[in-house]
Amino acid sequence: MASYIDQIEKRRTFAIISHPDAGKTTLTEKLLLYGGAIALAGSVKGKKNARHAVSDWMEIEKQRGISVTSSVMQFNYKGNCINILDTPGHQDFSEDTYRTLMAADSAVMVIDASKGVEAQTRKLFKVCLLRDIPIFTFINKMDREARNPFDLMEEIENELGIGTYPINWPIGCGKEFKGVYDRRRREIISFTANNGTREVEKQEMELNDPRLRELIGEELHNTLVDDVELLDGASYDFDMDKVRHGKLSPVFFGSALTNFGVEPFLEDFLNMTTPPLPRKSDCGEIDPFDEHFSAFVFKIQANMNKAHRDRIAFMRICSGRFDKDMEVYHMQGEKKMRLSQPQQLMAQDREVISEAYAGDIIGVFDPGIFSIGDTVTVPSKKFYFEGIPTFAPEHFARVSTRDTMKRKQFVKGVTQIAQEGAIQIFQLPGAGMEEVIVGVVGTLQFEVLEYRLKNEYNVEIKMEHLSYQYIRWIDAIEGEPSKLNLTSDTRVVQDFKGNFLLLFTNEWNIGWALEKNKGLVLSEFNRS
Ligand code: G4P
Repeated sequence: MASYIDQIEKRRTFAIISHPDAGKTTLTEKLLLYGGAIALAGSVKGKKNARHAVSDWMEIEKQRGISVTSSVMQFNYKGNCINILDTPGHQDFSEDTYRTLMAADSAVMVIDASKGVEAQTRKLFKVCLLRDIPIFTFINKMDREARNPFDLMEEIENELGIGTYPINWPIGCGKEFKGVYDRRRREIISFTANNGTREVEKQEMELNDPRLRELIGEELHNTLVDDVELLDGASYDFDMDKVRHGKLSPVFFGSALTNFGVEPFLEDFLNMTTPPLPRKSDCGEIDPFDEHFSAFVFKIQANMNKAHRDRIAFMRICSGRFDKDMEVYHMQGEKKMRLSQPQQLMAQDREVISEAYAGDIIGVFDPGIFSIGDTVTVPSKKFYFEGIPTFAPEHFARVSTRDTMKRKQFVKGVTQIAQEGAIQIFQLPGAGMEEVIVGVVGTLQFEVLEYRLKNEYNVEIKMEHLSYQYIRWIDAIEGEPSKLNLTSDTRVVQDFKGNFLLLFTNEWNIGWALEKNKGLVLSEFNRS
């Protein structure tokens, strides 16, 4: 049996992001196909029927899908053990994306070749940049009419502020798509439309090989020669250090649906990425190869299985080996414990596991003790991983239950959903929980809240949108929060940990509060 060091060495953990419809699911499915994790294309998910934005989450609900069956998938490929983390495509869930990225060591961005950088790509990408991890680009749907590849490169560079290095270059597109030229191996991978099965024809040919002219025609050949010359002269040098820090994105062209360019992408990706990266803690960096197990919680999902009302905490293992019988230490709860029903997700199946290694993601049954960002270690080695910051909400609403008899379910529902990190809840000081102020980063989260309270907790709510736009935590204050000198439209509230905050309708009011109250220090992040 391979040692734990070998096991960690072969782990690769990445997140996959895209604007909805760019082809993230199709690409994921093809990757799983190579790993033998699924036998048939189409088994990751069925056809989508509702396509508009609101249904983006309903779909998540429908399949719990995006987040569950496909939230973490593991497969083996040529000696590597690969964990793919799916992320929601909608920008309103960028906070969720950020948390998922915390658990990844690199990211793959899928772009539709006919559309280029889209609204959601922009927002999700910004989140990626915060993490300083390698970002790979897969430009998909080359079997359809596509935009000029140089324009696409330029758009990525200008709009996303990252350098690009095309690893391969497309020859034509749509009906004229002939394949790609691998710039480093200097060979052509020719494209024959197929039904998405594994085999792809690969031919090694120099650019000046007469057979190539025959294969792709004179016009495309001329374009290719010119393009390659231009690229070699003008594009960035391939700098691995820049790739590792998310400053330069290796770009691959392909077509996930027809399974073209997926395997070469996977192979290069594996060569360019590293085994699990160290994570920061209050004791310095934690080496993934350290023999002591450690992990942090990056996602919590309640009611995954409605019948059982279960709640799963997802952890990224950061060091060592996990064994299902081992005693672990939950730092925030200050308790020794065993993790209950540790499981890994493989396409559609949940599988109870007996061991896992740094780089892996495990889901454990959570009786309500974990919060996002919590650290789990072994009892003999205690430390805290760097926390996961909470994004400042930008939209607020006053929320209460329509039926006062359902107060208990309402409180339970909003509290649990807030613990998952799907919303943030605030209270007026001294007030009860009959009415809460809900803050979200994207307005779609309000709809999710309403939908989930109704479906999972059987509570109908009243929601009144509020005009606050800015939230600030009070870091320091002289005297009582209730005594602050504030504009009449500024509100003092408390989060559910008891911290005091201020809600403002505009930036000017923030300046007013700071000016009129000596000793008041405000911050945009919740550091507790
Ligand atoms: P997403 O997860 O990023 O939202 O995208 P998804 O993979 O679901 O793909 C969106 C649509 O684009 C799907 O078609 C899919 O078949 C198609 N697609 C993905 N990759 C390619 C490609 O390389 N070439 C072409 N031509 N199409 C591609 P759909 O008809 O909207 O959905 P479905 O009925 O196939 O599920």
